Amino acid sequence: MLKDELENIKKEFLERLALVKDKGALEEVKGLFVGRKRGKVNDLFLKMAALGAEEKREFGQAVNRLKVFLEEKLEEREKFLASKGSRESVRDDTLPGTRLEKGSAHLLNATLQEISSIFLRMGYSVEQGREVESDYFNFTALNIPEEHPARDDHDTFYLEHATATERYLLRTHTTPVQARTMSKGRPPFKFITPGRVFRKDEPDDTHSPVFHQVDGVLVDHGVTFADLKGTIKLFLRTLFGPEIVVRFRPSFFPFTEPSAEVDVFFNGRWLEVLGCGMIDPAVFSCAGIDSEEYTGFAFGMGIERLTMVRCGVPSLRLLYENDLRFLRQFP
Ligand code: DAH
Repeated sequence: MLKDELENIKKEFLERLALVKDKGALEEVKGLFVGRKRGKVNDLFLKMAALGAEEKREFGQAVNRLKVFLEEKLEEREKFLASKGSRESVRDDTLPGTRLEKGSAHLLNATLQEISSIFLRMGYSVEQGREVESDYFNFTALNIPEEHPARDDHDTFYLEHATATERYLLRTHTTPVQARTMSKGRPPFKFITPGRVFRKDEPDDTHSPVFHQVDGVLVDHGVTFADLKGTIKLFLRTLFGPEIVVRFRPSFFPFTEPSAEVDVFFNGRWLEVLGCGMIDPAVFSCAGIDSEEYTGFAFGMGIERLTMVRCGVPSLRLLYENDLRFLRQFP
C-alpha cells in the first residue's frame, strides 16, 4: 500500500515537472515534493514511525531512493531552464533566416482550375456526381444497355452489396453526372462535371486505374452542332493559345449523335484531346426531357491527357509520384 503511494508520487511528480517552464514553477514543484515542511516525501518519512523495525528499514530505503531520484530530476530541469534562458538571450542577426517553402497547385489541379475558369467565364456551373455510381447511370441511362459492346472499354470495379437491388460500381467516366443532373431538373442546362474516374487498366505511361475527367453539357431550345464547334474551339484556343489549330473527326459515342473526336495540332503532331457530340434523344428520354423541344451538346475530356499534351509530360506516372524535382518545373 505504501509502495503504491511511492509510485503515485513519482508519477505525479514527473507529470508536473514536464509542465515546468520557468524557475518560479520549478520552485513550486520542489516545495511540493521535497520541501522540508509540507513536502510529500517528508510526509512519507513521518508515516514510517508507525511501522515495525524490519519494514521501517525496507521502506526507508525506498523513500530515500525516491528522494534522490526527484532531486536529480529537479536539478536536470534547472540546468535545462538555465541553458534555454542563455540561448534565448543571445541573438545573432547575421545567421541566415528560416526559408519557408512556397507551395503551388499540383499540375493536375492547375489544369483543372484553368479548364473550370474558362467554362465558368462562359456561364457554366460545376456539378458534382458520385464516385460509387449505379450501373444504371454509368451505362443504361447513357444509352449503353447490358451487352452493349461499348461496355467492354469500360471494365471497372464492382461493389458487393447484399441488400441493394441495383448493381454499384466505381464510375468509369464523369458522363453519368450529365444524366443525374438532367434527370433532377428542367432545361436549360449549362454545366461541367469534373471528377475522379476508375477503370480496370494496367498502369503504364498512358493508363492508370484512377484518373480524372471533366464533361460538359449545354441544353436549350435550338442548340446546334455549330454551337458545339464554336464552344470547343473557343475553349481550346483559350487553353492552348489563339494560334492552335483544331480538327473535328467523325466518331461514335453511344450517348451522342452525331459524335466527334477533337484533335489539336501541337508540336508538329495531331493529338486527340476530347470527345463530343449532340446529346442522343435516348439520353434525353431517360432524363425525362422532350427531345422534340430541346437539343443540346456534350463533351468530355481527360484531365491527365490534356495536362500531358499541354505541358509536354511524357508519362502519366510522373503526375502521381509527387516527385518535387518534377513538380517544381511547373510553378
Ligand atoms: N465518356 C467518354 C469517355 O470516357 C468521353 C465523352 C465523349 C464524354 C463524348 C462526352 C461526350 O460527354 O459527348 O470515353
